[in-house]
Amino acid sequence: MEQEIRFVLIGLGNIGRNLLDILAHRQEAIARDYGVRLRLVGAADSSGAAMDPAGLDLERLIALKLARQGAAAYPQAGRPGVSALEMVRSTPAEILVDAAPTNLQTGEPGMSCVRAAMAQGQHVVMADKGPLVLAFAELTQAAKSAGVGLAYSGTVAGGLPTVNLGVRDLAGSGVTRVEGIFNGTTNYILTRMAEEQIGYAEALKGAQAAGIAEADPTLDVDGWDAANKLVIIANSVLRRPTTLQDLTVQGIRDVTLEDLQAARAQGRVIKPLAVAEWDGADYRLSVGPVWLEQAHPMARTGMWDMGVVYHTDYMGVISAVIEEEGPVPTSAAVLRDMLNLYR
Ligand SMILES: NC(=O)c1ccc[n+]([C@@H]2O[C@H](COP(=O)([O-])OP(=O)(O)OC[C@H]3O[C@@H](n4cnc5c(N)ncnc54)[C@H](OP(=O)(O)O)[C@@H]3O)[C@@H](O)[C@H]2O)c1
Repeated sequence: MEQEIRFVLIGLGNIGRNLLDILAHRQEAIARDYGVRLRLVGAADSSGAAMDPAGLDLERLIALKLARQGAAAYPQAGRPGVSALEMVRSTPAEILVDAAPTNLQTGEPGMSCVRAAMAQGQHVVMADKGPLVLAFAELTQAAKSAGVGLAYSGTVAGGLPTVNLGVRDLAGSGVTRVEGIFNGTTNYILTRMAEEQIGYAEALKGAQAAGIAEADPTLDVDGWDAANKLVIIANSVLRRPTTLQDLTVQGIRDVTLEDLQAARAQGRVIKPLAVAEWDGADYRLSVGPVWLEQAHPMARTGMWDMGVVYHTDYMGVISAVIEEEGPVPTSAAVLRDMLNLYR
């Protein structure tokens, strides 16, 4: 028998809109393969919200966003100025999906919505890293107390199952070292510099032209995006209560073409790595450019790749790599989380 699952979505940008697009295309296959039908009953963006218990039309909402209009402009169901939190509080649903912008000062607008949803007994799926980086312990405890699921597999390297692999598939084994390329932009920049023998400024321009680096690339190139993701891995996979203050963070701005050439002369490559290393008493956590042997699984990553390596005590060394050119795999990871809540 088919189960209907209602969800509300905050954020209708790259991730939210592509999630709706995937759903619009795969709705029937999902119903057939998983026995569930996902019904969008509320959606919020910066214009307000659209709410309809009978379900919003995905194509219509996507068309509105592509026409640069907001959820508030949705015919009949649009509510200009209604906040994401007001929508969450007034819309009965089984799942909240948080695809709002990552805010590392307050976690808002996601934080309040996530708290409210769990208090109402709803599962939460997040692409937004902010609330997790700021309040991981509080949110996982709140989910436990409320008996709901909290899933965030898309927050660390999008479609790459970094969190799931670590949390689920390494069960029972100890992790001695994690090495991750968690930020696509910095790997793109260093890979292009090394392969095309170009300087940092030119490679950064290429990343901006490809739409993967912001006009202000600080969060990526200074290492903070990767650091946020390492905080999530440390808390979830390594079970180490961790905040950004526990990490040593170095960016890639100072890596020169000469550095890359010197590395190559020694048979090595420089990669932007997030590392957690067990020193016998604690994990040492860092983000920065690292010289790797050519044979290292992360040394072979191309400019569109991200990856992770788990060194374990009893399960050997497991690595995974994803080729991820845009935001769609993260949207697919959100869908994966939603379906896995019901398996
Ligand atoms: N892009 C990626 O590849 C990627 C990968 C992993 C994780 N993430 C995370 O996923 C989240 C979404 O990313 P994105 O690329 O989709 O961002 P985005 O394109 O900037 O979209 C953000 C969306 O949030 C809406 N929004 C802004 N303020 C809001 C508010 N106060 N209340 C409700 N909605 C609000 C925006 O509204 P308007 O449409 O009206 O502007 C927009 O629809 C972020 O937290 C990001 O860090 C992104």
